[in-house]
Parts: sequence; C-alpha cells; structure tokens
Amino acid sequence: MTSRQTQPRPGIDQPAADHRSDRVPLYSAEFAADPHAAYYEMRRRYGSLVPIEIYPGVPATLVIGYQTAVRILSDPDHFPADPRRWQEKVPDDLPILPMVEWRPNALRSVGLEHLRYRKATNDALEKVDQHELHEMVERAAAALIAQFPTVGDEYERTADLISIYVQPLVCTVLNEILGCPPEIGQAIAAASAALFDSTDTETVNNMFGQAFLKLVEIKRIEPGDDVATRLVHDSEAKLTDEELIHQFVTCFSAGMEPGQNLIANSLLLMLTDSRFTGNELGFIPTSAVVDEILAMDPPLANYCITYPRQPILVDGVWLPANEPVITSMAACSNDPRMNTGDYAGNGWNLGWGAGPHQCPKHARSAAHRIAVDAIDELLDSVPELRLAVPAAELEWRPGGFHRALAELPVVFPLDPRHRI
Ligand code: HEM
Repeated sequence: MTSRQTQPRPGIDQPAADHRSDRVPLYSAEFAADPHAAYYEMRRRYGSLVPIEIYPGVPATLVIGYQTAVRILSDPDHFPADPRRWQEKVPDDLPILPMVEWRPNALRSVGLEHLRYRKATNDALEKVDQHELHEMVERAAAALIAQFPTVGDEYERTADLISIYVQPLVCTVLNEILGCPPEIGQAIAAASAALFDSTDTETVNNMFGQAFLKLVEIKRIEPGDDVATRLVHDSEAKLTDEELIHQFVTCFSAGMEPGQNLIANSLLLMLTDSRFTGNELGFIPTSAVVDEILAMDPPLANYCITYPRQPILVDGVWLPANEPVITSMAACSNDPRMNTGDYAGNGWNLGWGAGPHQCPKHARSAAHRIAVDAIDELLDSVPELRLAVPAAELEWRPGGFHRALAELPVVFPLDPRHRI
C-alpha cells in the first residue's frame, strides 16, 4: 500500500501538517454539534487524510477515505494498534488516556497475544443464546416501560429517554450476559461513562480495577452460565487476574457506551426522519435502521487507532512514526465513493471497525440484537412517542471518539384512560 521511500519528495509529497492552526480540533463543542459539516469540509480541504488534534496539543491523523481506512486497518504490520511508543511521549495525566492507552487486551495488542485475547472473548460470547438474549431485553424493557410517565400535562410527561430507558436497559442486559451482580454493574457503568468523558486515567482504572477484581473473585468461587465465568475458567487462554480485568473493561466499555449510543442514535433517526414519521409507503425494518446508523452516525465515530512504527507514505502524505492514525468510521461510511444509500444488512459500514481488530463476530451479533430488540420493545409499547424539542436543539456530548447525545427528551403519550 505504501512506497518504500523513506524521505518526502519536495513538491510531490505533502508533509503532515505540524502547526496547531492547521489541525482540526476534534475535541471542540462545534465539532460535536455538527461533525458531518466538519467531515464535509475536511474532505474538501484535505482528501483522505486530515491533520487533527484529538485533544489540545495532541496531534493525530484522521482517515476519512473509505478505501484508505480499510487498507490501513488491514495492515497491522505497518499500522499496529499498540500505543506504547506514543505513550512514552505524552503526559501520564492526559485525559484521553483511558480510551487509548495500552492494556493487555485484544484492542491494544498485536500478534499471538492479540489472537489469544480476541479468541477468549469471542468464545465466551459465542455461548450467549440469542433467544435468551431476546428474553433478557424483553424483561428489562417491560420493567422500565412500566415506570414511564403517562399522566399529567405535557411537561409532566416529558423525560430523557436515555436515562430512563436506554442506559438502564443496556446496563441490565450487559450485566446479565456477563454475570455481573447489580452493585458491581452500577460501579462499572459509572467507570465506563467516565472513560468516554475523558476523566483522568488513574481514577477510571481504579474504578474498573476494584469492581472487576471483585467479579473475578466471585466467579472463581461461584461459577455461572455467563461470559465472566467462561473467561475466568478459559483453560486455553489461562488469563491472569490482571488480564481478566482488562478483557472485562473492553467488554463493558464497548458494550455500555457504544451500545447505548447505537440505540439512542437509531431512535433519534426514527423520531425525526420523514421515512418513519410521515406517511411514506414502505416498511423499513429496525435492523436496517441500526445498520444505517452504523454507517452514518456510528457510536464509535472516530476510533480504530493505529501507530505506524516508521514514517510512512499514504496517499501522498507522510504520516509520522508513533503518532496516532485514527479512522473516522463516520466520515468513511459517508465517503460519496462508497455510500450507495442502501443500508439494509449493508456489508460495507465501518461501524464495527475493519481488519483484524474489527469488533468480534459474536460481540457484533449480541450488540445488534440488543439494539434492535430494545427499539422494537419501546416502539411497540409506546408508538406515539415524540421528540420534546426540535432536533437542532439536542445537545451532543463533546469528545472526538464517540457520537453521543447528552439527552433524548421525549414526550410520552397520555394514558388512554386519562384522555376523556
Ligand atoms: C454497539 C456496540 C458496539 C460497537 C459500536 C462496537 C464497535 C467496535 C469497534 C469499532 C471495534 C474496533 C476497535 C479498534 O479497531 O480499535 C471494536 C472492537 C472490539 N469490540 Fe466492539 N463494539 C460494540 C459492542 C461490543 C460488545 C458488546 C463487546 C463485548 C461484549 C465488544 C467487544 C469488542 C472487542 C473485544 C474488541 C477488540 C477486538 C480486537 O481488537 O481484536 N464490542 N468494537
């Protein structure tokens, strides 16, 4: 994919921009408010590779060309996911570290270690029964929907759907799959949100470490039919306590925040797009909506981070050694050369990543099932649900990695018994 030269050719190859003013700040509130306008402008100005700052003073390259991203993500020899050489150059208290730092897990490892971690997680998830998973979502949804406000005026029936439905549902189901008692689950959900919100690395790691060590201890003494037990007792991978904690961190942080944002972003589309709100003919299955979001507004918008070991020439741009190369799954899937506008079961969205670190098959199917069932249960029970504010007034959480609504305020319909 790259030529073998080691020096830029003057006037031919572009050096990566190194002035702060040239770099697009991915951490800004403006970017969070309208990332698609930013991607459009980036494509116009830079083509497939964009000089950015992922945090003030932290330079990186954002890949927004679909084919370029797939080539980079499929070439772990030149673009390994191990961040340790980069980490040597950055301060220990960099707030984005919890999201990017090295951990003994699949996401940040290479070679045999990567395969060992990845296989252990995927094997543990494979045994999650799809029918039982559906029932778990159904039970969690019914309990939450029973608490929805259905009396009073519109003000009294307005609530944030994320905090009263999406977040607790994903948390409950994930805890059940992983075999996590509720009190440990709550501590983990708080740590997971802190991770995406750039809380300092020591705090986040302590929060995760304490909760998960307790989980390992419980599963050694009382094994169950769950993912945590299967990881703790995996006789092939033989994971140490520290390794176990980090596989749990990956499963929870991947499942919780992106899981919840996949549901919220899909619901927002269904509550605002005329294909769903109007009387347009044609039925669009929920799974196609979820696939559309995985292409157009994926929960992990900019991630799949690699660190070239040497300076490397890509699409006429020199990428420096040991500096993050971040894939914009959101921008790549919007690449006009790729997006056909056909979303149902599309095989091309990058919402799950690509290449050897792509979200493992059984994690993808579980996360997709939870999202589709959570949406169906909600809209079957409350079909008249509507947004409480104009979509343009919704607030998005800042942070370059995720695409996450701060709240999804909706008006619940009046209970029919109170309509007279
Ligand atoms: C909507 C939910 C989810 C989304 C959008 C998502 C997305 C992704 C993406 C984009 C990657 C690639 C990251 C990279 O290359 O740096 C990834 C990797 C991974 N995901 Fe997911 N994921 C989700 C749910 C889950 C769940 C529920 C689990 C486990 C319970 C999980 C486990 C993993 C693991 C272990 C990896 C690392 C794989 C490797 O490096 O070989 N994910 N996920």
